[in-house]
Amino acid sequence: MNTKVYRLSQIDEAAAAIKRGELVAFPTETVYGLGADATNEDAVKNVYLAKGRPSDNPLIVHVNSIEMVEQYAAEIPDNARKLMAKFWPGSLTIILKIKKGALSKTVTGGLSTVAFRFPDCQPTLDLIAKAGVPMVGPSANTSGKPSPTTAQHVYHDLNGKITGILDNGPTRVGVESTVLDMSTDTPVILRPGAVTKRDIESVIGSIDLNHHKVGKNETPKAPGMKYKHYAPSAQVYIVDEGTDWAQVAKWIDQQPFDVGVMAEGQILKQLTLPMNAVQFSLGSGVTDASARLFDGLRGFDDQHNVKAIVTQAFPAQDLGRAYMNRLNKSAGGVHFNPGQVK
Ligand code: TXA
Ligand code: MG
Repeated sequence: MNTKVYRLSQIDEAAAAIKRGELVAFPTETVYGLGADATNEDAVKNVYLAKGRPSDNPLIVHVNSIEMVEQYAAEIPDNARKLMAKFWPGSLTIILKIKKGALSKTVTGGLSTVAFRFPDCQPTLDLIAKAGVPMVGPSANTSGKPSPTTAQHVYHDLNGKITGILDNGPTRVGVESTVLDMSTDTPVILRPGAVTKRDIESVIGSIDLNHHKVGKNETPKAPGMKYKHYAPSAQVYIVDEGTDWAQVAKWIDQQPFDVGVMAEGQILKQLTLPMNAVQFSLGSGVTDASARLFDGLRGFDDQHNVKAIVTQAFPAQDLGRAYMNRLNKSAGGVHFNPGQVK
C-alpha cells in the first residue's frame, strides 16, 4: 500500500478513511499527528504499531469542541475551562480525569486520565467534524525521531504503513504542544510548548513545572518524556550562548567527517566555515528556530557524511524553554566544549 497524500480539497476522503478505522496523518499548528478514530480500539492499536511506539505511552485525543471533551472527561474543573476559553484552539494540551469506560485503555496507556487538545488548524478541525469522532494523534514520526513538521517528513517515516496524509504545508510552531496536567490539585506542566508557564499563570495563577526534574531513574508523569527522543543519527552538540563561533568553526575543521551547523542566519553570514561544514539556517530568533529545528535535524539524517551537528542554544525562557527541552533531548544533554579545541 502506497500512502496517499490528500490535498485540502480531499478532506472528505481523509474523513472517510478515519471512519473506516484507517490511519491518516493530519496537520496541526505544532507538528503533524498520526490520526485514528479514538473510539475504535483496533485503529488505535495500529497507531502504536505504525509508529513503533511503546504501548504504555498514552495518546492525545484531538477534539473540535468542548462538548466533545465533556463526552469523555469525568469533569472539567473551572480552571481548565478558563484555559480552554483563552488558549483553544491552540498549542495547549490539557490532561483531565477520564470518564469511566469512555475510552479504551489503549488510548490512555492504562492511566485514569486522558489528554485533550484542540488544535489551531482549520483543515484538521474540519477533518474531525467530518469524521464525527475525536482523533488520537501522537506526532506522526517513527518513535524516537524528530517530530514531523511537513507532510514529506511523515511520508519519509510512514509511507506504506498508513492510508494517507492530509498535506497543509509546513507547520507554523514546529515544537509540540504544552502538556498541562490538570487532573491533580496543583496543575503541572509535563512538557513545555508554545503556550508558556507565564501564559498559563496569567489565567489561573501559580503552577508547577516538572518536566526538567525527569532524570534517568525517575518516573516522569508524562510517560513519553522518558524515551529517547528527537534524535537524528549524528551526535548533536548544543552550542551555548556566548560561545565563540570561530572556535566552533575551528573544531569543525579538525574533524574527519562533515559537520552540520544550525544557527541563526546572522551568525552563519559572519562566519567563515571550513569545507566540511554543512549549513542550516535557523532564521532569526527563537520563534523561527523552533519552527525549523526538526526540519534541520531531519535533513542532516539524510546526509550520511554528517556525523556531528552543532546547534545554537537560546535562553530557556518562554518558547525558548520548549526549544531547549527538545534540543537537549536530541543532543542527549551533550554540549560543545570550546576547551577541546586545540
Ligand atoms: O503538538 C502536539 O501535542 C502533537 C500534535 C500532533 O497534536 N502531538 C504530540 O503527541 O506531540 P505525542 O503523543 O507525540 O506526545 C504526547 C505526550 C507524550 O509525552 C505522552 O506521554 C503525554 O503527552 N501524555 C498523553 N496522555 C497523557 C496522560 N494521560 N498523562 C500524562 N501524559 C500524557
Ligand atoms: Mg511524539
